[in-house]
Amino acid sequence: MRKIIIAIDGYSACGKSTTAKQVAARLGYSYIDTGAMYRASALYFHQHYINLTNPSAILKALEETQISFHFNEKLQRSETYLNGLNVEDEIRKMSISNMVSEVSAIPEVRKHMVHLQRKMGKKKGLVMDGRDIGTQVFPEAELKIFMQAEMTVRAARRQQEYLSKNQVVDLEAVLENLKKRDHIDTTREEGPLRKAEDAYEVDTTYITVEEQVDYILDLATSKIIENLHTVSDI
Ligand code: DC
Repeated sequence: MRKIIIAIDGYSACGKSTTAKQVAARLGYSYIDTGAMYRASALYFHQHYINLTNPSAILKALEETQISFHFNEKLQRSETYLNGLNVEDEIRKMSISNMVSEVSAIPEVRKHMVHLQRKMGKKKGLVMDGRDIGTQVFPEAELKIFMQAEMTVRAARRQQEYLSKNQVVDLEAVLENLKKRDHIDTTREEGPLRKAEDAYEVDTTYITVEEQVDYILDLATSKIIENLHTVSDI
């Protein structure tokens, strides 16, 4: 059966990755967390004292950076690797959250990531979440979702996530971080966060993860059927 691409974009901490992972698992599709790719490069830049205003240093650092995802059977989750090392927990820390939007606004970084992400989508059968997937990476994606939620709910959910990893973070600090990232993500010149015209909006403030997943799966099923009628199966 012909596979499709599902692009899920939206603000930080709206539940994009939780939903995307489950949708991918139910369809037997791959899941790519593009935020993790920006986080891993931010970690590398941080570890190697890369000057964020020096484009040639950035390009060199990007060439030295190899990012991959591997499934951890024991924890039943996909984990991010940077140059062969598991950095899944490291990249979720507040120190990286505090610098990642600045790194992801650098044009050289975006160009590099978009190129890698397009390569990953060649065979379709993919759920990818991020900020510019439906607008820049796969403007031709068969299904586009744009997720949002009220700020206080997003901050409380993100704080819970930190707590579940034994990281105690003040709610005010989480709120500030989300506001700052929203601002940088929506106002940058290259690939700003915005809803694609043909994206379906999902507000996750008052709905459960199961409801979000079911809604997207229903849409995906219709798009897969539509796709069967519009393109001949080879
Ligand atoms: O989804 P996340 O919070 O892990 O993303 C981390 C940062 O990466 C986010 O602040 C914006 C950036 N990002 C981006 O600019 N484009 C993407 N496709 C994904 C993430």
